[in-house]
Amino acid sequence: MISQKMQGLVDNNSVIRQMFEEGKRMALEFGEDKVYDFSLGNPNVPAPDKVGQTIENLLKNEDPVMLHGYMPNAGFTDVRDRIASSLNRRFDTSFTADNIMMTVGAAGGLNCALKALINPGDEVLTFAPYFVEYRNYVANYDGVLKEVAPDTETFQPDLEAFKDAVTPKTRALIINNPNNPSGVIYPEDTITAIADILRKKQEEYGTEIFIISDEPYRELVYTGAEVPYITKYYDNTIVGYSFSKTLSLPGERIGYLVIPSEASDHDRLFQAVTIANRVLGFVNAPSLMQKVVAECLDEKADIDFYARNRDTLYDALREYGFSCIKPEGAFYMFIKSPTPDEKEFVSRAKEEHILLVPGSSFACPGFVRLAYCVSYETCVNSLPGFKKVAESFGLIRK
Ligand SMILES: Cc1ncc(COP(=O)(O)O)c(C=O)c1O
Repeated sequence: MISQKMQGLVDNNSVIRQMFEEGKRMALEFGEDKVYDFSLGNPNVPAPDKVGQTIENLLKNEDPVMLHGYMPNAGFTDVRDRIASSLNRRFDTSFTADNIMMTVGAAGGLNCALKALINPGDEVLTFAPYFVEYRNYVANYDGVLKEVAPDTETFQPDLEAFKDAVTPKTRALIINNPNNPSGVIYPEDTITAIADILRKKQEEYGTEIFIISDEPYRELVYTGAEVPYITKYYDNTIVGYSFSKTLSLPGERIGYLVIPSEASDHDRLFQAVTIANRVLGFVNAPSLMQKVVAECLDEKADIDFYARNRDTLYDALREYGFSCIKPEGAFYMFIKSPTPDEKEFVSRAKEEHILLVPGSSFACPGFVRLAYCVSYETCVNSLPGFKKVAESFGLIRK
């Protein structure tokens, strides 16, 4: 008999992952080009050339014992140094290697941060809609995830509701900027307001409340919009970054945490996340990939590729009568379901071989998520199917 904690997870296995499996099955049955799989945030753009070149160089020129060996649990010091310098250059911060811990992607980093902070029963807040794994990650450490309902017109945080949701048990707030699944960016005045609320609540309750800023999409912005660097607004902050999306390396599992020196009890907190990295079984982030990303810090995702997909789908879906916010960042579109039960919409789309994820998977029923990190052809070829779906819900006349 498996553990009680895992029974729940096995019974409710991720809808997104199930969709992904279903997409693979449908591609075999109907042909790859007849299935429009918008279910998973798996970038379709290849990694920048520099990634492959750097791997070749490292394998040719570096000492293999060093390259593939164990290292400090926080990662190679020279890599952490280079990441700190790159952040300082871009965001006018003053980090050193002592502020950076290399992680196994954003997922590994979030787990280390939560393990370091959470006592059983502690509450962690997040704004709906949110990345569905947060609930599981918080539960790993016997914390309780509490969601703050969204303003479904703008998908910006409802700050009044947030203020009311903070209690003496609140240990952390997870924010995700730019946001998966809504594609919105929380601007500077929102971040300032969140920071003000938390500072007051810390004082009122005599507690420490951390912002954990989950930022795998930081570099994926379309309109030149700024994504505020959160450590500049609030001291008790942990930033989680990942190269999964920016460098199209999700399978390589590489990212980092930033623990600013201003965070309360910084040295012990840094030790705690580092030891968490070890005892959770990651031990350290993949060694070769640490060296690779250190050489590729100035490389960028092909944002024009995603922008073209976004514009093509957004313009067509609006024309067919669907309603959704134009994404400012990440590579997701959050579409309002034309019928109250969005699962009905998802099923109807599937009949046209279009795979979408129900918003209830992101604590936001009534909407569906479309991940447009797919080929341009997939976007264009899916449009007749979307049109038929729109017709069947009476959004446009035949
Ligand atoms: C908001 C968010 N956080 C974290 C992750 C996990 O990213 P990683 O592959 O770096 O673990 C994802 C992946 O899709 C995500 O969308």
